[in-house]
Amino acid sequence: MAEFRGINPLATKGDKVVRVASPVVVSLIFLEKIFDFAGESWYSEGAMGEPLKIAVLASGEGTNLQAIIDAIKKGRLRAEIRVVISNNSGSGALRRARREGIYGLHLSHKQFTAPEEFDARLLQVLEEREVELVCLAGYMKLLSPRVVGAYRNRILNIHPALLPSFGGKGMYGQRVHQAVIEYGVKVTGVTVHLVDEKYDHGPIVLQKAVEVLEDDTAETLSQRVLRVEHELYPKAIELFAERRIKVEGRKVRIEGRGLNRN
Ligand code: GRF
Repeated sequence: MAEFRGINPLATKGDKVVRVASPVVVSLIFLEKIFDFAGESWYSEGAMGEPLKIAVLASGEGTNLQAIIDAIKKGRLRAEIRVVISNNSGSGALRRARREGIYGLHLSHKQFTAPEEFDARLLQVLEEREVELVCLAGYMKLLSPRVVGAYRNRILNIHPALLPSFGGKGMYGQRVHQAVIEYGVKVTGVTVHLVDEKYDHGPIVLQKAVEVLEDDTAETLSQRVLRVEHELYPKAIELFAERRIKVEGRKVRIEGRGLNRN
């Protein structure tokens, strides 16, 4: 049941919820809840408002970006990609954005004399595009504390292993899968997590396991893991779109209907 601040437009009659305020008041209060995501955690009821405005930051091929685009097109994700940002002007991600008619931007530290200038420009773009959630999808740069602080609990990352294993600085791309195979673990997987100031460290939103087969190479394993990434990332973003995410310290709670299963 929603908790409303200020005037409560709803009352209960038996186990039914009835409306006691005018539609205008109800709409205003819903709007207030929908935009209420400042502070430690952000969460409000229902997916009644506009699609979630997201930015996707990607350095490489952009297959996760494509999975997000496809989920939106199929109506499985109520979001709008307001901007795709890449530090790599030749990235597949920017190519895909162009092809889909999505606003794409090449933004790299190399274009600025100091890292602070890059941060200022990045934040300016995110603000101008009215971005509510930032999705890192194979973005190879660590975001600065200033950017993380400005979008606290509103930046997601996807990692191709079950964190906290096989993560951290230098653990990206095929290196992750190579390390998984060399260690001999039987299970790896995918993690979608909130971004904090450290590599692959923030609270975990969703995880899904993938079996490691005896004859797997980094290549074959990465292909199976990538397919799971493409399912899991849109799902995690949809949880944000539905305002069902509650962050309590390191723990992410998923509110509302359905189970935390994927
Ligand atoms: C994915 O494996 C993702 O988990 C990692 O970088 C890779 C990006 O792949 N963070 P793509 O560019 O989305 O194809």
